[in-house]
Amino acid sequence: MSQYTLCKVSDLAPGACKTLEVDGHDIALYNVGGVFYATDDFCKHRGGHLGEGHLLGTTVTCPLHFWQYDIIDGRCTSHPNGDIRAYPVTVEGDDLVLTVDPPFVRLF
Ligand code: FES
Repeated sequence: MSQYTLCKVSDLAPGACKTLEVDGHDIALYNVGGVFYATDDFCKHRGGHLGEGHLLGTTVTCPLHFWQYDIIDGRCTSHPNGDIRAYPVTVEGDDLVLTVDPPFVRLF
């Protein structure tokens, strides 16, 4: 298990999402009414940045061709082979902390 401090709670407004680089991996971070979620940022269709997508409730829509994902569990609701990883995010003081278990695989 690995943990990473992402940013401050105040850095992401409710209803917003953004892309962050964490240990060489792009992560999409979401704020749904003050509850934070994170998934892989890479859309399984053609690599759109989900952190730049449209967030409605707990569904993010890819900005390129509109595949949709449930950010709670990373399930792609647009394609049966499109699922991505979802990660727990906890609030520790003023910080948002990402837990990655199992850890990211380093390719080089
Ligand atoms: S790259 Fe995400 S839907 Fe095409």
